[in-house]
Amino acid sequence: MKVEAMKIFKPSINFYMWCSILMFFMFSCLFLIKMDINHSSSPNSMSRLAHSRRAFWDMDLTVQPTPPPPQLLSASHGCLLNNSYVNIPKHFPEAHRTFLRYKHCRSFPRLLTPRPCDDNLFLLMVIKSTAAQVDRRAALRTTWGQEGVIRGKKVRLVFLLGRSQDLVKGYPLQRLLEYENRQFGDILQWDFVDSFFNLTLKEVHFLSWFSQECQTAQFVLKGDDDVFIHTGNIVEFLEDRSPSDHLFAGDIIYRAKPQREPKNKYFIPEEMYPQNQYPPYAGGGGYLMSHQTVVGLDRAARDMDLFPIDDVFVGMCLKKMKVKVMFHNGFRTFGLRQRLIPFNPCFYRNLMLVHKLSPTEMWTMWSLINDQNSICNRSVRL
Ligand SMILES: *[C@@H]1O[C@H](CO)[C@@H](O)[C@H](O)[C@H]1NC(C)=O
Ligand SMILES: *[C@@H]1O[C@H](CO)[C@@H](O)[C@H](O)[C@H]1NC(C)=O
Ligand SMILES: *[C@@H]1O[C@H](CO)[C@@H](O)[C@H](O)[C@H]1NC(C)=O
Repeated sequence: MKVEAMKIFKPSINFYMWCSILMFFMFSCLFLIKMDINHSSSPNSMSRLAHSRRAFWDMDLTVQPTPPPPQLLSASHGCLLNNSYVNIPKHFPEAHRTFLRYKHCRSFPRLLTPRPCDDNLFLLMVIKSTAAQVDRRAALRTTWGQEGVIRGKKVRLVFLLGRSQDLVKGYPLQRLLEYENRQFGDILQWDFVDSFFNLTLKEVHFLSWFSQECQTAQFVLKGDDDVFIHTGNIVEFLEDRSPSDHLFAGDIIYRAKPQREPKNKYFIPEEMYPQNQYPPYAGGGGYLMSHQTVVGLDRAARDMDLFPIDDVFVGMCLKKMKVKVMFHNGFRTFGLRQRLIPFNPCFYRNLMLVHKLSPTEMWTMWSLINDQNSICNRSVRL
């Protein structure tokens, strides 16, 4: 009995052989599956999947765009720093030191050029901007800065910029400016760092561009990119004036004293400006000039030492030219005492220029001023 049972369960050679083959297959399968899992979790195959099977809206957006191109132009174009200034007093802030060392570098190449000036251009509005302030430029182009004809006179907008190293999510803003200039043809840019103390460089470069390439413009309004300008009132004010007479009008500041407090944005040490009073100058928010005055300023600026505050620098040139400046109450370069609450379009009807508006305030004000049903749509003589 026992022997018989043993005999029944005794495996044959065949049985062992089949078992081994089966085991071999099972291990092979396990090995292959494991390999496949490893493989498909590698990032490489994920991106290949993304390209082959995923729809475009499902793409992996973390993929890096083309890396920013390197800055091609050197910082100061072979204009070496002035070593005679090594003895700059110790208490001078860094910006003042940089300014003094590079003060003699006055000519930088142009990076972007706007469309040429028209023959019958009445008012050219030149606005100081920086690359990052694209929202302000957009607001100006679609509100008071619209190119067109006002009271039968042609008006036009141009932005003045230096070079910006700013990146937005790794993307150079220079590309944005190039795009804007292709779209609107209103960017005038030079290859110097767009800093506060380089605003005077912006001024002299603008003056020389105007004298050489925009001689047709009869009047110029120079301003910041956060001002609201009542273009209609400006044109009306200029209508019966001659571009060949001197005109310099704005919020004129008389007998201003240089800031001697080192923490102030406008700090000027005595060693840089010993007198205790600036010549009359216009608040930089915005001012009006005739063709004659702009061309004269260009000539005067050529043999003036640069001064870091651009408005004051213009004042110094005007003094040298002996031009009589005109104070005008319509220029509110230091903002309004009553702020914009509530927005009062009647108030704006009497103004030429107001400083410090956000793009949203700019569009709101524009819509109110242009409301045909407004009780304020009368013309105001200024
Ligand atoms: C360098 O600075 C000194 C003042 O320390 C000045 O006299 C000289 O003219 C400057 N040189 C240039 C090239 O501007
Ligand atoms: C002005 O721009 C020049 C050229 O880009 C630069 O070397 C200099 O440092 C800038 N000056 C100031 C005061 O920012
Ligand atoms: C606003 O101006 C239009 C003409 O441009 C005129 O017809 C209308 O009466 C004016 N409205 C008021 C309230 O003055």
